[in-house]
Amino acid sequence: MSQRIFIGVAWPYANGSLHLGQIAGAYLPADIFARYHRLKGNEVLMVSGSDQHGTPITIKAGQEGKTPAEVTARYHQQFLESWQKLGISFDLFTNTGTENHAKVTQDIFLKLLEKGYIYKDTVSQPYCPQCQRFLPDRYVEGTCPHCHSAGARGDQCDDCGKPLNPEDLLEPRCRLCGGTPQFKDSEHFFLKLSYFQDKLAAWVGEQGHWRPNVYGLTQRYLKEGLKDRAITRDIDWGVPVPAKGFEDKRIYVWFEAVIGYLSASKEWAKAKGDEDGWRPFWRDKETKGYYFIGKDNIPFHTLIWPAMLMGYGGLNLPYDVPANEFLTIEGRKLSTSRNWAVWLPDYLSRYEPDPLRYLLSINMPEGGDTDFSWREFVRRNNDELVATYGNLVNRVLTFVYRNFDGRVPTYADMGATTNVPPLDSRDSELMDRAFAIYNHIYADDGPLSACHFKKAIMMAMTIAQEANRYLDEKSPWKIIKENREAAATSLYVAICVISRLKTALYPFLPFSSQQVHEYLGFEGRLQDYGWQPAPPPPGQKLLEPKPLFTKLEEKLVEEETARLGQAHA
Ligand code: MF3
Ligand code: ZN
Repeated sequence: MSQRIFIGVAWPYANGSLHLGQIAGAYLPADIFARYHRLKGNEVLMVSGSDQHGTPITIKAGQEGKTPAEVTARYHQQFLESWQKLGISFDLFTNTGTENHAKVTQDIFLKLLEKGYIYKDTVSQPYCPQCQRFLPDRYVEGTCPHCHSAGARGDQCDDCGKPLNPEDLLEPRCRLCGGTPQFKDSEHFFLKLSYFQDKLAAWVGEQGHWRPNVYGLTQRYLKEGLKDRAITRDIDWGVPVPAKGFEDKRIYVWFEAVIGYLSASKEWAKAKGDEDGWRPFWRDKETKGYYFIGKDNIPFHTLIWPAMLMGYGGLNLPYDVPANEFLTIEGRKLSTSRNWAVWLPDYLSRYEPDPLRYLLSINMPEGGDTDFSWREFVRRNNDELVATYGNLVNRVLTFVYRNFDGRVPTYADMGATTNVPPLDSRDSELMDRAFAIYNHIYADDGPLSACHFKKAIMMAMTIAQEANRYLDEKSPWKIIKENREAAATSLYVAICVISRLKTALYPFLPFSSQQVHEYLGFEGRLQDYGWQPAPPPPGQKLLEPKPLFTKLEEKLVEEETARLGQAHA
């Protein structure tokens, strides 16, 4: 039975390049999941977009002497190119600067206001008399009251990591002019999160299928008690507040960014000429919604967005939020400001996409933090992609191509008199094993469907290992002289297993899987053949094979690690 799956992926701030932490945390797992479900014939909608608002953007624009719109346009373009090259297959990757997004956000705001889930209150806000403007928390700097570091900001101290309020800072100053801020009253709207406490607690209690880290963190927030949150700000960059007297204020970035999941779904539907096409993904109770995010975004997706959806009514709550932990780089915490990061555009300018997809899949930070190192990258590429999977494909297809007239061995080559390949028990054993592993990976209750990506790719790789062992035993390259028929049969069996392997690995390694698909003599896109494609029939013409993967040199490790922590353009 076909399913409908909504996949929302975290909206990256368009103020800098993407780095591997974000890819391992959210984008790659989302893409693997989407490819798996599409292949199974399920209806998938995967959306995200660049987050164009918030102080991360305006601060970056200030530093570069550009407008926020200029900064976000540039990075949005870069994101789109990165998705293309890395094969992250969004149905739509839009941005929060669209008219549609503002309209959908304001609709939700007004509906929550009308229902009494949003209310107005007066709060005291930092205000710079010289600049004559209110200052967002991050625009107030000063000395940390806890560790006395001089560079603390009004939202947190990066040195001791403690969260702060602007009024906590000692000797506060305005980030823009250095002047001393005052505090001034300002009217703001608040989301009545406290009202949703019990409803959320009951709902979260039913989500036993969530990962322990996600479930546990969410329960901790609930135990502390949910507090109402200001959802407007005294800034001029963002979605306008649809209320009189709020012309100089904007909706808080976090309130509107999560609404992007819905607004993007509507934009997608409209673009394909079916305005109501978003409805089944949001209103049909049978649809499951998955949100792929990093662990720093968990409460926004397990509490705040669900509260907004409950308040609005009639829209599906998340089914799962498979948030990943963090990726460390060479054993150290990733830091974009210290440039202790591997930037995706840099990676893609030097290497192929699949080796990265492979490493980040097999080493995915699913249950705890994992480490990326260039040594591991080279090792896994050379030992696992080149020597195990690539070598299997290469030695079989090259040998067959040369010795069997560029075709899959025919029944006659195998010495069969009917259209049944003459398999012995060792042949059947391998075929059955590959079949069983494959079926388990793709099963409705298998590891891919449960978002256990690491496990799924490891299992897929065992198919390659077993096929290599089989070939070492059968040695068709040696026996071909005395027993051409036996060699043809083993090679045919290996081809059937390779054909299964290309589909097993497709969600992880879409580019090389497509390559194998073509070497096996198939035309068109692998994904159009479904999850149970027939193996290439005996006699099918092959495409001349080339090595699937390239061996990487050890010296790359030193070159790449030397780049870490260096100044970055
Ligand atoms: N731009 C924010 C971040 O990168 C929010 C991402 S997820 C969202 O942390 F969907 F909630 F926007
Ligand atoms: Zn100032």
